[in-house]
Amino acid sequence: MYEVGFIFDLDGVIVDTAKYHYLAWKKLANELGFEFTVDQNEMFKGVSRKRCLEILLDIGNINATQEQFDKWMVEKNLDYLDYINKMDESEILPDVQRILKYLKKQNIPIALGSASKNAKPILEKVKLLEYFDFIVDGNSVTKAKPDPEVFLIAAENMGLMPENCIVFEDAVAGIEAANNAKMISIGIGEEKILKEADFNFNDFTEIDLSFIKKLLNNK
Ligand code: BG6
Ligand code: MG
Repeated sequence: MYEVGFIFDLDGVIVDTAKYHYLAWKKLANELGFEFTVDQNEMFKGVSRKRCLEILLDIGNINATQEQFDKWMVEKNLDYLDYINKMDESEILPDVQRILKYLKKQNIPIALGSASKNAKPILEKVKLLEYFDFIVDGNSVTKAKPDPEVFLIAAENMGLMPENCIVFEDAVAGIEAANNAKMISIGIGEEKILKEADFNFNDFTEIDLSFIKKLLNNK
């Protein structure tokens, strides 16, 4: 019997929703009269919606009233949801299902550990919800990544010690959160950005089952 569990981040690990977050933030920035670049969007990965808006307003040098701030949070999310509502299975990132299927077959617990408050509807849209034994998302946490809270709740739900949990993450803040939780961190994306991860892969196509088996058996 294995005593390990896997925790998957959502945006940028399971689905490429970063591009939709970007388009929705860019629209708001443009409406407010400034530009928002793809490079600046890197800072938004793994970061809560509220914190993203704070950073965006800093970039645009805009002082908002509480009322404006709340209105823009809602506006951005409605634009983002327009993209999400059109999603289907074709937007699952390559080989994510192969790994999920393998873990399921081995009866390994699988949790989601995401900052997003839209996590559940997205998993439903792409028909992956059934793979997850536990969903820990932006609605379940009080502290954002790099705080380890989201991953520690996932470990607790799975009934596992943090050091027996393995996290897939595409964001610097997420790798930091996994490391802060004393979990095994696997960076999905550019190694030069995710250099603090214990292991790095560009995407799931590079992960073969012998690597997963090794993680399972080292425990
Ligand atoms: C993270 C994304 O997964 O979720 C961030 O990487 C995003 O870019 C955050 O801001 C919150 O998402 P949502 O869906 O609650 O606005
Ligand atoms: Mg992510």
